[in-house]
Amino acid sequence: MLISKKINDAISQQIGNEFGAALQYVAIAAHFDSEALPQLAAHFYGQAAEERDHAMKFVKFLVDTDGKVAIPAIAAPKCTFKTAEEAVQLSLNWEVEVTQQIHALVDLAKKETNYTTDNFLQWFVKEQLEEVSSMDQLLKVLQRAGEGGLLRVEEYLARHAGAKPSTPDTAS
Ligand SMILES: [Fe+2]
Ligand SMILES: [Fe+2]
Repeated sequence: MLISKKINDAISQQIGNEFGAALQYVAIAAHFDSEALPQLAAHFYGQAAEERDHAMKFVKFLVDTDGKVAIPAIAAPKCTFKTAEEAVQLSLNWEVEVTQQIHALVDLAKKETNYTTDNFLQWFVKEQLEEVSSMDQLLKVLQRAGEGGLLRVEEYLARHAGAKPSTPDTAS
């Protein structure tokens, strides 16, 4: 085994955090979908798919390092939102929190001088910068448009859709 039990346990916990993020983003996407805001819905369905991919990267890492994959219980996501801003602010807070979780994992890997884990985690360090920055930008666009201007946010997302795939594979 290329990792300690401590690293193994911490990564198992992170698999739960990533799946938790996936569930939270599905809940937010479904909220926007039911409010007839298809671009915001597609954006969050896409984010949910990305979070699942993150969880799977950690799963594969544990398999590759001969660790044990033990997925923890995942808490139910929040599924009621008074405003679009509330949902996006929650997402931004979540991404900031995940960034701290990833940094704590890097701290642990460095403490154990486990270069395999440290190197693997650097992809996530880079990814979190992108995730926090793009969520922060969406929140700013939303705040500028206001709750009455959600259709303008939809137009904004439609214009920028080419920048990143955001359509869920469940879309018809
Ligand atoms: Fe993630
Ligand atoms: Fe994320």
